[in-house]
Amino acid sequence: MSGRLVIAVDGPAAAGKGTLARALADALGLPYLDTGLLYRAVGRRMLDAGLSPHEDAEPAARALQPEDLRRTDLRTPEVDRAASAVASQPAVRTALLQFQRGFGAEHGAVLDGRDIGTVIFPDARVKLFVTASTRSRAERRWKQMRGDAPVDAAGRAAAIDAVEAELLARDAADSARATAPLRPAPDAVEIDSDALDADAVLREALRIVQARLAESGG
Ligand code: CDP
Ligand code: CDP
Repeated sequence: MSGRLVIAVDGPAAAGKGTLARALADALGLPYLDTGLLYRAVGRRMLDAGLSPHEDAEPAARALQPEDLRRTDLRTPEVDRAASAVASQPAVRTALLQFQRGFGAEHGAVLDGRDIGTVIFPDARVKLFVTASTRSRAERRWKQMRGDAPVDAAGRAAAIDAVEAELLARDAADSARATAPLRPAPDAVEIDSDALDADAVLREALRIVQARLAESGG
């Protein structure tokens, strides 16, 4: 294979980006970076400091430490919103750019996020854009978050409605922002995972990776 292999996995909230990117990294022996965690950790720092995530978050981004990414409270609904708010600030994105590029530069990597194929690694050998219907994504995120508490059918539907509304609002904000909006790179291959379980998505992705590498003489 010629040159390092970078695989970009982008897509909307709860589409299965992380599940796919982690599995691809395992299958191909590459490092994996969840770039959403960077924005989540910056949002978390703002909330902890009693600041609105809409205020200037560049100092929080510049102060980020490896242990910030290992915190266990980065996946709450409050942090979802804070991450999206700080992610709309160009100075925050600039502060996090070199770390992401450096992560993939030496040995190659699989990175998942919103702008990996468009901004972070516009020359990535393989770009995947994972989608699923809003309802499927909301159901998956709800199942992921809910734990073991019993719930009746009406409660389930109402809870999924609430998750769906949050996902839609976050996708709308991420798509509408001026800097590094959520969108597929022109050369990304889209995988609609609505009817596919995680294993089927991985098989499809590996097929695309092999085809791309064959095309690029890798
Ligand atoms: O897992 P989920 O798709 O819900 O979110 P995430 O990937 O952890 O990203 C959280 C938020 O960070 C997103 O809503 C985006 O606003 C932002 N983000 C971004 O702007 N660029 C990235 N490369 C990754 C995340
Ligand atoms: O990283 P992102 O927010 O895009 O999604 P994720 O955390 O990888 O996936 C969200 C949830 O959907 C997880 O609980 C996955 O196990 C599940 N999932 C699924 O049910 N079917 C897929 N094809 C992919 C993910």
